[in-house]
Amino acid sequence: MDASDIEKDLSTIHYTEDQILAKLRELAGRIEQDYEGKDLLIVGVLKGAVMVMADLARALTRHVEMDWMAVSSYGSGTKSSGVVRILKDLDTDISGRHVLIVEDIIDTGLTLSWLVSNLQSRGPASVEICTAFRKPDAAAKMAVPVKYVGFDLPDEFVVGYGLDYAEKYRNLRCVGTLAPHVYS
Ligand code: XMP
Repeated sequence: MDASDIEKDLSTIHYTEDQILAKLRELAGRIEQDYEGKDLLIVGVLKGAVMVMADLARALTRHVEMDWMAVSSYGSGTKSSGVVRILKDLDTDISGRHVLIVEDIIDTGLTLSWLVSNLQSRGPASVEICTAFRKPDAAAKMAVPVKYVGFDLPDEFVVGYGLDYAEKYRNLRCVGTLAPHVYS
């Protein structure tokens, strides 16, 4: 089995690796301008944001520090409820720091809204959000603004580029919708 065999489980490929990397370079350019002269800490949300953190960080041509958080969001089915538990906290004291949260995908935005207010309570200089992908619910009604958005996706369960189905497919280089035969 190789990567193309895994891709056979997708009904649609939404974005290829090349498209994702080009978009991240564009976002990195904006981030460099916006944070010129400021220190920057990017915070990846495990596990999904591993790929986007790695590629975004390497698209930046300036110094950046990286840290990680892991949270679990309780919900019914595939939708989160906004009730969040920290599984792994930051190693860094963020007071007075410029923090950019890096996410793989925002769906309802409830997990992220909780995370932003949690980080804001620690006295950072700023907290902004960068996400590789965004679903329609988040685009329509998310309470906290998302400064950097890679791509908007339809309201379908997608995998690849860090996103999983039962912990699989994270290593796919593209992002696509899982074909129905995978569930049955
Ligand atoms: P909320 O709804 O709080 O949840 O924005 C965001 C988290 O939900 C997961 N998520 C997905 N994971 N394919 C996935 O593999 C999807 O289509 C999907 N939609 C939401 C993901 O963990 C994200 O951080």
